[in-house]
Amino acid sequence: MRSARSVIALFTAVALLVPLTPVASAEPATGGHQQTLRSAAPRGFHIGTAVAGGGHHEEQPYPDPFTSDRKYRQVLAAEFGSVSPENQMKWEYIHPERNRYNFGMADAIVRFAKQNRQVVRGHTLLWHSQNPEWLEQGKFTAAELREILREHITTVVGRYAGRIQQWDVANEIFTDSGALRTTDNIWIRELGPGIVADAFRWAHQADPKAKLFFNDYNVESVNAKSDAYYALIKDLRAAGVPVHGFSAQAHLSLDYGFPDDLERNLRRFADLRLETAITELDVRMTLPANGVPTAAQLQQQADYYQRTLSACLKVRTCKSFTIWGFVDKYSWVPVFFQGQGAATVMWNDFTRKPAYYALRSTLAKRGA
Ligand code: XIL
Repeated sequence: MRSARSVIALFTAVALLVPLTPVASAEPATGGHQQTLRSAAPRGFHIGTAVAGGGHHEEQPYPDPFTSDRKYRQVLAAEFGSVSPENQMKWEYIHPERNRYNFGMADAIVRFAKQNRQVVRGHTLLWHSQNPEWLEQGKFTAAELREILREHITTVVGRYAGRIQQWDVANEIFTDSGALRTTDNIWIRELGPGIVADAFRWAHQADPKAKLFFNDYNVESVNAKSDAYYALIKDLRAAGVPVHGFSAQAHLSLDYGFPDDLERNLRRFADLRLETAITELDVRMTLPANGVPTAAQLQQQADYYQRTLSACLKVRTCKSFTIWGFVDKYSWVPVFFQGQGAATVMWNDFTRKPAYYALRSTLAKRGA
């Protein structure tokens, strides 16, 4: 294994060689003092990021970003008021064997957050993806599976009780057409849809202070999928199930139009007296042959970031706005979407793109 020290030395050396402002996005004058996203944000509004580690990072030729990249940690602490473990609280990571938990990295993130006065979004407890093999391939009875889920939620949520602001309890439980995932979601398939309410009840018992969310992609607009959430959440609330929030991941792409009705969609959930949030914003694009985004692409990307933030800022209950990583070199996008990339707000040397400045000035306008 490469030593962390030599990697840091390498990063530092590269950073020194790279010009500081690669694009025509000169930093607006701030009268000398450096503003950050978190310092520009209105009071009580949490601007967050995913904390890189686990998942696709384990296949990449760099050491764990969160623990090994000093500059990364500095920017993480300076710019953000909220953090979400990108993979480190997912089942496959935190519960790798039936009778073994791996809390090390999640503990470290929660500790880091406390030291830096950041809140934490927990992600995630009931999902069809990134489950360990022992779970997906195990031959369990319904009663056993139910107990496995109850024990997991009680253990993980209980361990961080009082330190997690929002939990994505259920992630991506509907398909784009608004049908429950009854085949690929092991919990719904084996235990029926009622298990979703139980997951919320168990989480609430384990941490009565945490706000409990449904989270999904392609729910930025009013559409079949967000309608399905709207109907389900209404029913669950009427039945007294502790559901507190609905969030849109917002993995956007310049290849698709901007979801113009985002604000309207968030507002209808807010009108159900729910908290709302943007949880995983990134804006990917099809890269030109040379791999470098054009100035027009960067401008359009900034516009998408800014419009997403503005929509959230305009909805009374939208107080948490998280981007899915902040530097391109650690983004999941090029690994999952062929030919696409440049989806975050910073270049590999942490210099800022137009999208970063668009977020900061939008926050500052509201924060002032
Ligand atoms: C992604 C991570 O960014 C990757 O590191 C991992 O390999 C796969 O998952 N929706 C979610 C996130 O809820 O957890 C996903 O994160 C992206 C899509």
